[in-house]
Amino acid sequence: MSVISLLFFLTLHHGFLLASPAVDQFTFDGFAGANLLLDGTAAVTADGLLMLTNGTTLLKGHAFYSSILRFHAAASTPRSFSTAFVFGILSEYADISSPGLAFVVSKSSNFSTALQSQYMGLANAANNGNASNHFLAVELDTVVNAEFGDMSGNHVGINMDGLKSVVADNAGYYEDGTGAFRNMSLLNRTAAQVWVDLTRSPRWSASPWRPWRCPSPRGLCSPPP
Ligand SMILES: *[C@@H]1O[C@H](CO)[C@@H](O)[C@H](O)[C@H]1NC(C)=O
Ligand SMILES: *[C@@H]1O[C@H](CO)[C@@H](O)[C@H](O)[C@H]1NC(C)=O
Ligand SMILES: *[C@@H]1O[C@H](CO)[C@@H](O)[C@H](O)[C@H]1NC(C)=O
Ligand SMILES: *[C@@H]1O[C@H](CO)[C@@H](O)[C@H](O)[C@H]1NC(C)=O
Ligand SMILES: *[C@@H]1O[C@H](CO)[C@@H](O)[C@H](O)[C@H]1NC(C)=O
Repeated sequence: MSVISLLFFLTLHHGFLLASPAVDQFTFDGFAGANLLLDGTAAVTADGLLMLTNGTTLLKGHAFYSSILRFHAAASTPRSFSTAFVFGILSEYADISSPGLAFVVSKSSNFSTALQSQYMGLANAANNGNASNHFLAVELDTVVNAEFGDMSGNHVGINMDGLKSVVADNAGYYEDGTGAFRNMSLLNRTAAQVWVDLTRSPRWSASPWRPWRCPSPRGLCSPPP
């Protein structure tokens, strides 16, 4: 499986309750010179695409933004963020893939002990789901792994600290105009865009990463904590 992200932006902002307009934001229109922290099979290609894996199975690769971003404001309230990225999965076969990819916010960029394959480079059998992992991931998962309760071989999930999703749904989008939900294949070799919006909540104190509001445009929602 090869995974290529073409364009990426992230905006980190204080919630609407704060007067401070402080915003950290960045956009990559191509990754040449982006100075990402790469490990494993991850590489930036000559034409500036980010390639996470290289076609050899059972390997993993990560690419992290090279600066630390503060997701807690001064008063230790978590900050909201929005991101969007374009990806493509080039699987060896038309309808079977390695597990896929994930957008991750984590306290550490060191995932050296995480496993590839169904662990998606995020955790291993011993620490899967452990709160000390401190990560939030939006997974694009193309294989059913019963041990993690995966709903289908073509789903999007929101994961905290492990591979079992807090909430998941079949990959798709809401069609302009009709508003109807349309399935889409993560494996159909077309570039697709993902939006992630996480809105801070005063109820986050115990678990700042728990996503609880519906993102916009319509997408996955998880129940309030
Ligand atoms: C992928 O990278 C690994 C090393 O990270 C290498 O052993 C393997 O040959 C590469 N596969 C391809 C198809 O380039
Ligand atoms: C990453 O974590 C592993 C396991 O905890 C540790 O052995 C290694 O030194 C760490 N690497 C870095 C660069 O901190
Ligand atoms: C799980 O988390 C606890 C504390 O949060 C830590 O002491 C323990 O080592 C962790 N276990 C694994 C397998 O990572
Ligand atoms: C989308 O795909 C899922 C899983 O294959 C299926 O259960 C569902 O009926 C499909 N929905 C639509 C609108 O086609
Ligand atoms: C891939 O899926 C998208 C969304 O359903 C669709 O617009 C596109 O035409 C598909 N591409 C192919 C090659 O099937």
